[in-house]
Amino acid sequence: MVRENKKYFPIFETQQDLVYLDSAASALRPKAVIDKEKEYYEEYPVNIHRGVYRLAERAGEEYEFARKKLAEFIKAKIPEEIVWTRNATEAINLAAGTWGEKYVKNGDEIALTIMEHHANLVPWQQLAIRKGAKLKYLDINEEGKPEMNQKNWNKWISKKTKIAAITQASNVLGTINDVKAMIQLIKQINPRVKVLVDGAQAVPRMKVDVDDMGADFYAATGHKMYGPNGVGWLWARKELLEEMPPYQTGGGMIEEVKKYQTIFAGLPDKFEAGTVNIPGVLGLGAAVKFLNGLGMTNIRKHEIEINRYALKRLKEIRGLKVLGSGEPEERTGIYSFWVDGVHPHDLAQILSGENIAVRAGHHCAQPLHDRLGLVATTRASIGVYTSRADVDKLINGIDKAIKLLRG
Ligand code: ALA
Repeated sequence: MVRENKKYFPIFETQQDLVYLDSAASALRPKAVIDKEKEYYEEYPVNIHRGVYRLAERAGEEYEFARKKLAEFIKAKIPEEIVWTRNATEAINLAAGTWGEKYVKNGDEIALTIMEHHANLVPWQQLAIRKGAKLKYLDINEEGKPEMNQKNWNKWISKKTKIAAITQASNVLGTINDVKAMIQLIKQINPRVKVLVDGAQAVPRMKVDVDDMGADFYAATGHKMYGPNGVGWLWARKELLEEMPPYQTGGGMIEEVKKYQTIFAGLPDKFEAGTVNIPGVLGLGAAVKFLNGLGMTNIRKHEIEINRYALKRLKEIRGLKVLGSGEPEERTGIYSFWVDGVHPHDLAQILSGENIAVRAGHHCAQPLHDRLGLVATTRASIGVYTSRADVDKLINGIDKAIKLLRG
């Protein structure tokens, strides 16, 4: 299955020895996604919603078709609940900058978990600063899972909480949060709290059902789900999107403009000002088709299989500690680790010499690293193309680096 999956990714034709283990930062792109963007530029490279000519109609139809496909993929009730953005960061900024700006007031509380990456932390932190609201963080336990005991939760969520922003899958710990249970608990304590789920790492790795999980907002990005750069999305319940003011104003998001006032367009155009990333959206639609073709159940099964092997092999290395759960079924294929006596950046550099791509640093999750008392970790993260042979090469690379660096 994996050998088959590698064949969908043109990069492996020119770089056969590439061991790509940085999929949590950006996944590689399959030919189908690249071809879809090329198709747009070669066959109908025009603007949407503006022309009545055939090419413009085709571009517009393709654009809305991608929205429909994504809506089906995440089980949104209607496509209009999806707003295209530049990335997950912009999707979260949109929620914080419109819903948050309108409803969060001085003295209110915003609930985050300590495992949030910066995209789902800084926008809320800045909103809290602007509004005089208080940020509250839910801590994690030894296994890198959120503390679920009632006492902590009653401190975390209160009558003053307006919004909780939680990740479905940590980009550092590999933790998969049971967001459905978390949302239920949050809403039991305070039914008025809105919950935004950051799905950047979850969407490419597991089945997502935004409605069933009980979320109010869900944000993710194209480039981590095998789609293009420069395109992401926010899903939100229709009622929320309707009451939210526009994020940016200008062309494309209006119904009617007079010299001194404007009537804004309906959903989803209200949130898509200016000329949008049409090829990006089309490519993301192709990425959804690609993921559906492989099947999310198969993708998850493959991830668990690689987890089982990788966790066992990483454990063989003396002085190496992987963060998060040791149970293959409980986590994603994102392994952040440190090795006694070896600096993560030196390790990543040596692995790079073997054409093994990993990330070293705080992975845009500095408060989490502070909480763990770590300045940096090395992170290997798998994709649908990752094989056991890739894991073996990683292990050999780490062994080599340890010999070189520990002397
Ligand atoms: N959040 C992205 C990562 O984990 C940037 O690499």
